[in-house]
Amino acid sequence: MPRMIADRPLLRMTSELGKVMAAARAREQAGERVLHLERGEPDFDTPPHIVEALAAAARAGETHYPDQRGTLAVRQTLCEKLARENRIVCEPDDVVLANGGTHALFLVFQALLGAGDEVLVLSPHWMAIPKLVAFAEGARMRTLTAYLDLLEGRLDPAGLADRLRAALRPETRGIYINTPNNPTGAVLTRAELEAIAEVAIERVLWVVSDEAYEHLVFDGATHVSIASLPGMAERTISVYTFSKSYAMTGWRVGYMVAPPALRAVMGPLLAFYTTHGVFPSVQSAARAAVLGPQDAVEAMRRAYQERRDLLLAGLAGQNAIRVPAPRGAFYAFANVRGALQGRDVWGLVDAWLELGVAVLPGTAFGPEHGEWVRLSLATRREDVAEAAARLRQHVTALAR
Ligand SMILES: Cc1ncc(COP(=O)(O)O)c(C=O)c1O
Repeated sequence: MPRMIADRPLLRMTSELGKVMAAARAREQAGERVLHLERGEPDFDTPPHIVEALAAAARAGETHYPDQRGTLAVRQTLCEKLARENRIVCEPDDVVLANGGTHALFLVFQALLGAGDEVLVLSPHWMAIPKLVAFAEGARMRTLTAYLDLLEGRLDPAGLADRLRAALRPETRGIYINTPNNPTGAVLTRAELEAIAEVAIERVLWVVSDEAYEHLVFDGATHVSIASLPGMAERTISVYTFSKSYAMTGWRVGYMVAPPALRAVMGPLLAFYTTHGVFPSVQSAARAAVLGPQDAVEAMRRAYQERRDLLLAGLAGQNAIRVPAPRGAFYAFANVRGALQGRDVWGLVDAWLELGVAVLPGTAFGPEHGEWVRLSLATRREDVAEAAARLRQHVTALAR
C-alpha cells in the first residue's frame, strides 16, 4: 500500500469542533437532547431578498466562470461600503472576493508568509488560524494573550503596545488581530487599535485584521477598522465575510481589501488557482445584501445581545463559571477554574455533554486557555436560557 497521507504536520492537526460535534451527534442518535452551544453558525436563515437576488441572477444566466476577483460591480459596491462603514479608502482593484472569510484568510497568509516567517496572533484566537498559517509551508505563528486582559480592564493601550514590542522577534513579519473577537467577544477600541498601529508602523509590520463580526457589537460599542487609522491602509489586509452579518454561512462568500502592493498576486494568482472565484450569482446576491435593507442585520444583532444578557443573567449568583461580558460577536468565553474539580477542560466538556450542553474547550483557542470554555450564542434563546439553567444547577449542586 503506498503512503497516502503526506508527511506534513498540517495533515495531523485535528478539529476540536469536529470532536465535540461528533460526540453531541452520538448522544442525539441515542435519543438524548443536546443544547448546541458549540457551533459558530447563525441559526437564522438568509434574508429572503438576498435569496431572491441569487435566484434572479442564476435565471439571468450568471452561471459561467466568474471573474476571479469578483465583478467590477460588486467590488465597486464593496469599496463604497468600506468607505462608508469602515472609513477605508480603496480602489475596486484592491478588493478581492473569496469563498468565505476562511478562504480570504488562507489567501492572505499564502501571500504574506514564507518559510521562516512568523505571524504574531493575539489570543485567544479563532481555532482555524493555526491551520490556515500551517498551510503556508515553513511559516510559524506565536500567540500573545491580549483580549481577556483588555476586556476585563487589566491592560490599557500603552500596556498593550509594550506587550507587543516585547513579543516581537526578528522573524515576526506581522500581527493577526480579530475584532470583535471570537471567542471572547472583546471589541478593540480605537485607542487599543492605535496602540497596535503605533507598533506596526514603528517595527515595519503588516497587520491582518479579521472583521468577520463587524456588525455584531453590543451596548452601543463601535467597531473600528484598523486600516482606517493613519499610515495603516498601506500595511493592513482587512478581511470580511457575509456569513455572520447576513446569515450566509453556506454561500461561501467573503472578501478582503489589501494594499495595492498585493494586486498582482491576490486575484490573478491565489484566487484564480485555488477556486477560480465565487459563483457569479452569489456575487450578485452579495451585492444585493450590501445595497438592500439592513434591518435583518440589526434584528439579528439585537437577538444575539438579548441572548448574551440571558446567559449572563442565567449564570449569575454562582462563582464556578465566570463570564466576562462579551461586547460583540456571538460567543461568551467562560472561565471554569471553579468547576474543573481536578479534571482538565476536556473532562469538563465531556461532563457538560452528559448534562446535554455542548461547548468547546478553551484550548481550541490557544493552548494557554485550559481553564476556559466557549459558549456560542448562535442558538435559540430558549436553548441559551436552558443551558445556563442546567449549568448553574450543576455547579451549585457540586459546590454543596
Ligand atoms: C474570527 C473568524 N474569522 C473568520 C471566519 C470565517 O467565516 P467564513 O469562512 O464562514 O466566512 C470565522 C468563522 O467562524 C470567524 O469566527
